Amino acid sequence: MKIAVAADHGGYPLKAEIMTHLSAEGHEVTDLGCNSATESVDYPDYAVLVARAVVSGSADFGIALCGTGIGISIAANKISGVRAALVHDLTTARLAREHNNANVLCLGARTTDSALALACVDAFLKAQPEARHQARLDKITALEQSALQE
Ligand code: RB5
Repeated sequence: MKIAVAADHGGYPLKAEIMTHLSAEGHEVTDLGCNSATESVDYPDYAVLVARAVVSGSADFGIALCGTGIGISIAANKISGVRAALVHDLTTARLAREHNNANVLCLGARTTDSALALACVDAFLKAQPEARHQARLDKITALEQSALQE
């Protein structure tokens, strides 16, 4: 799969590990920055890069990282068509796909250790959306469209 990955400085250490892992698994990985754990940057700037990669179709999925995963998930979800899910364990990683058809996985590098984070990535990518939840996702899409018209 084609996967776009980005992080702010708080997420940077985990980004390198996730990218190595995804490449080893045979995925086509695009690094959208940032490139330092010590140079402070703003997570919305990186959230939007992942979000645009996914909604444009240049990536099948996005992975967005910051210190907690909170800020970058909030920012990514501002882009129409993005369903970004902050996960903390294997169950939420799997359900983010099965129930919410999430297209961006968010993790916190300061809150989730790297072994669990890599397992969450695998669980997220392996899971498939369940059709019984589609009507709810359609309501989210409708909310996006109505918000644009207000
Ligand atoms: C950056 O210091 C930190 O605020 C950011 O990585 C993230 O945790 C915000 O939600």
